[in-house]
Amino acid sequence: MDCKHMVLITGSSTGFGRLIAETLARHGHTVFATMRDPEGRNAINSTEIRALAKRESLPLHVLDLDVTDDASVDRAVRSTVEQAGRIDVAINNAGYGLVGLAEALTVEQAQRIMNTNFFGSVRVNRAVLPFMRRQRNGLLMHISSGAGRVIIPSFGFYCASKFALEALAETYYYELAPQGIESVIVEPGAYQTPVFGNIVIAADEARTDTYGAANQIGPKVGAALTAAAGNPQELADAVLQILETPVGHKKLRYRVSAADLGVDEINALSEAVQSRLLEAFGLTADTAFVQTSTAGA
Ligand SMILES: NC(=O)c1ccc[n+]([C@@H]2O[C@H](COP(=O)([O-])OP(=O)(O)OC[C@H]3O[C@@H](n4cnc5c(N)ncnc54)[C@H](OP(=O)(O)O)[C@@H]3O)[C@@H](O)[C@H]2O)c1
Repeated sequence: MDCKHMVLITGSSTGFGRLIAETLARHGHTVFATMRDPEGRNAINSTEIRALAKRESLPLHVLDLDVTDDASVDRAVRSTVEQAGRIDVAINNAGYGLVGLAEALTVEQAQRIMNTNFFGSVRVNRAVLPFMRRQRNGLLMHISSGAGRVIIPSFGFYCASKFALEALAETYYYELAPQGIESVIVEPGAYQTPVFGNIVIAADEARTDTYGAANQIGPKVGAALTAAAGNPQELADAVLQILETPVGHKKLRYRVSAADLGVDEINALSEAVQSRLLEAFGLTADTAFVQTSTAGA
């Protein structure tokens, strides 16, 4: 891969996505900052990003992409390749939180969060991979969460969506390495973005009547998370560093957080267990995965 990359990011209207887009563009990477409905619900955000690009002469472009819509994803990926000639990096960032006792969340709410936080990445990865395969290089990045490795009561379905995302990303890591395509997972702790204001609340309140004190779990966890939230530029800087790490030297997982919730421990144990598992299935000998894993360990 060249040292300057062609990057597509989902969910770039606000928060991490927007900061990542601006940070990468300021470091010379060409960025397609995608968001849903840039001329409507995100008109102010898209105008601000375009104005910044003009003011600072940045290689930063806005594109329409709703991760829940197959056609929208395909259109944005095709447009990126038409404009940039290739696509080196896809950053799966779009996502939102869902809070409430598990029983009080409706099936529709559960399906909806999976459709964005998990199937969104399925769609984007499937759309970009044929182009990356042709180039014989590429990077799939997945913005997961510490909640993709530990369970937070009252955030159960959010955790489920991020656990699913991690399984997808780790599978791609093993399967794509021999073709020169990398997959990495970024696990942020709590950071001050609009994410907390955008959290969806459990819809079936009647189900919570018998739960007594357990009803306080959500507000308690929410208060602890917002109180601990750090500066999101840290996450954008970490993403820049990961993206600029040479091929073959990236880790599978990057925990980015000041808080120690044991996520690093789980990641270390998981890496050891997975190595044993792959060996047991005879999957380690002479594969590119072995080289990638050793270099990044
Ligand atoms: N901030 C944290 O503490 C934290 C910690 C761990 C993980 N994360 C993860 O980081 C990612 C970014 O969150 P954030 O903190 O930056 O919050 P945010 O400011 O609320 O950003 C979320 C982004 O996702 C977009 N999005 C939602 N549904 C979408 C869809 N269907 N199609 C395209 N875009 C969609 C939103 O776009 P709209 O403007 O159109 O709604 C917004 O741009 C999320 O995956 C989140 O789970 C955040």
